[in-house]
Amino acid sequence: MQNPFSLSFGKEPESLISRDFQSSDIISGFTGENPAYQVCMITGVRGSGKTVALTTISNQFRSDKRWIVVDLNPERDLLKMLAAELSNRRELFEIFRDAKINLSFLGFGLEIDGVPPITDIVVALRRMLEKLTKSGMRVLITIDEASSTPSFREFASQFQIFMREKLNVFLLMTGLYENISKIQDNKNLTFLYRAPKLLLAPLNLTLIAAKYKEVFQLDDKEAYKMAEATKGYPFAFQVLGYLCWSRQKRWNELMPEYDAYLEELAYEKMWSELSEKDRQIVSAMSRLDDLKVENIRAEAGIDSNLFSVYRQRLLKQGIIASPSYGYLAFTLPRFKEYVQRVMPD
Ligand SMILES: Nc1ncnc2c1ncn2[C@@H]1O[C@H](COP(=O)(O)OP(=O)(O)OP(=O)(O)O)[C@@H](O)[C@H]1O
Ligand SMILES: [Mg+2]
Repeated sequence: MQNPFSLSFGKEPESLISRDFQSSDIISGFTGENPAYQVCMITGVRGSGKTVALTTISNQFRSDKRWIVVDLNPERDLLKMLAAELSNRRELFEIFRDAKINLSFLGFGLEIDGVPPITDIVVALRRMLEKLTKSGMRVLITIDEASSTPSFREFASQFQIFMREKLNVFLLMTGLYENISKIQDNKNLTFLYRAPKLLLAPLNLTLIAAKYKEVFQLDDKEAYKMAEATKGYPFAFQVLGYLCWSRQKRWNELMPEYDAYLEELAYEKMWSELSEKDRQIVSAMSRLDDLKVENIRAEAGIDSNLFSVYRQRLLKQGIIASPSYGYLAFTLPRFKEYVQRVMPD
């Protein structure tokens, strides 16, 4: 039998832990007669399951006939790709033909006799979206790993106009907090500030334990301990399962290898993206047992104002969490040990 756990990023794993609780918020926000919002962003650290969550959620919409889901590649010309995608859908072909939308000039096929071709991409999109909106359909655009590129900025500002025109367009995107934050700092994209941002929470430990129990025939207590060793970090859930399966050892004998995989495939990259001050704070945390904010600040030797700015950022990135008022904690498993290794006293 094949290993039921996978180390690859970006695709739905065979052992998938449900996030229904979190994703149902997004789904209900987009649905209903008067949707609560039309844009939503999923953030979280590397390996927190953004791409998988985007795939799971968009598949739910895909199975509903009233929704047209279009996945766009942020490296391409987004407006053009959206027009191309819509005009290539077989199920929409008749709708656009009846509406006499001639897109042949733009190179998207669909020559219509006696109708002059549309020569502007925005006009073409507007015509298509108007027609779809009138037919009661909704278009969900997904963008994985959005960042503030010229193509994205052009796309987003046009998206805002379509929204204002009351067209049924929805946007679900993922990104690291740094990138999302840069995007919404663009002065004509401030509407994104108001869009809900979902920081992916850890996976449910009880569900993880149940999965490990089933695969490795552990008793409840042991399975839960193994789940706790992942802290609900999705990538860690896969790594620990993967190692147990392939090495045929108990999970707690695998810590050195577990550390090595986490380091090599996730933490090194995260660490390299932290600023000097971020690192100072995180490494102060790794030296302390009592993670009271005041203690950490004193240990890091950073003044109060600056400290709260960086603390806030680390929280939004998902690298640390605040389990109770006035306290901080590491969110990622074995990250404390990793920091101790890269920042020896
Ligand atoms: N709901 C889940 N249940 C189980 N495993 C998951 C789940 N979501 C993600 N994973 C696993 O976690 C790892 C990372 O997932 P994913 O690629 O979605 O992360 P990401 O946040 O998009 O990372 P990056 O920022 O690098 O793009 C993969 O190995 C994936 O199989
Ligand atoms: Mg991803």
